[in-house]
Amino acid sequence: MTKAKKVTIKNLSKIYPGQNGKQVIAVNHVSLDINPGELVTLLGPSGCGKTTILRMVAGFEIPTHGDIYIGEDRVNSLTPDKRDTAMVFQSYALFPHLNIYDNIAYGLKIKKFSKEEIKNKVNAILELVGLTGMENRAPNQLSGGQQQRVALARALVMEPGVLLFDEPLSNLDAKLRVYMRNEIHKIQRKVGITSIYVTHDQSEAMSLSDRVIIMHAGNIEQIGTPHEIYMKPASEFVADFIGIANIVPATVVESKQGAITVKIFGKDFSTDYDKELAVGQNCKAVLRPEAVQIGVTGEVEAKVTSSIFMGESQDYVVDVGGTKLQVKEYNPGSKQVFAAGETAFLTLDKRALHVLQSAKA
Ligand SMILES: Nc1ncnc2c1ncn2[C@@H]1O[C@H](COP(=O)(O)OP(=O)(O)O)[C@@H](O)[C@H]1O
Ligand SMILES: [Mg+2]
Repeated sequence: MTKAKKVTIKNLSKIYPGQNGKQVIAVNHVSLDINPGELVTLLGPSGCGKTTILRMVAGFEIPTHGDIYIGEDRVNSLTPDKRDTAMVFQSYALFPHLNIYDNIAYGLKIKKFSKEEIKNKVNAILELVGLTGMENRAPNQLSGGQQQRVALARALVMEPGVLLFDEPLSNLDAKLRVYMRNEIHKIQRKVGITSIYVTHDQSEAMSLSDRVIIMHAGNIEQIGTPHEIYMKPASEFVADFIGIANIVPATVVESKQGAITVKIFGKDFSTDYDKELAVGQNCKAVLRPEAVQIGVTGEVEAKVTSSIFMGESQDYVVDVGGTKLQVKEYNPGSKQVFAAGETAFLTLDKRALHVLQSAKA
């Protein structure tokens, strides 16, 4: 039913006048292409500029530099109601005095749809978001998750070309967040609507996104699929922000097209690599805790400094020649468990070893 639109962001910046005459560069020359029907997340710590980008796309904020296109149209000078976008907010922003039906019908009435059309559209959307039968309730008679469904329905019923989400699940408890993010994912896929989803929650981003845009201090650090940003982080910041990363010193031993060998802890390790680095160059490597195995034999000797049973895993901190590493062994019931103070041996999974391109040790 929706005509999904592409979104093109070109060299977009937003500078706020800050306190004491100091400017705040909230968004710094960001460029981005979002395909029709794609769901991208803007992911990054608080204050990195996510909401500002979203508000510029929606038209609530005017860019300092740059251009925004929705479909083929440059929308910079269009007011929010002319942009073919709809926004879902963290606070739901429902009208407390209107029932669910009227909350969802509100925008359609303003656009002067007939009573019949409104009824058909609202009923279809109620069914889509799983709220059929709730139409006469007031917002305060619904749970948080249900209120967020109403907010989603109210946005979807307008059949916008682009749907914008600003941390829509932040007010929900942990289990409901997981449930609702799966619901949003299903509905987004079903409708096929282009979506930009802002979050600071990495698991939300990983589970929802076609592509994740990692932001840091107004800049894009990396754009990639969930798999790419986890397995091939572009920077130390990304490696550290997504999951847990051991970042260890390494030296390039050999580098040719498609592969690299680095020395880590005095041993050579080879892995796939798409860049060439100078032999002898110091660099850094990312090793995920679950990609290090611990056992009575292995490639690198380590001293266990901490060993914690977490149920699904045994979480270790080990020391290798003064470098601390986090190690996660899943399914510890089936494995030998080491105690703090014991000596163990590590085996590194080469597929999960990633050399950072930019970082110089
Ligand atoms: N209206 C404003 N006036 C001045 N500074 C602002 C304003 N809105 C946001 N900022 C600043 O811009 C930066 C980015 O903010 P924001 O986009 O809200 O970040 P995020 O959504 O990633 O948490 C922050 O440093 C914030 O303090
Ligand atoms: Mg924000």
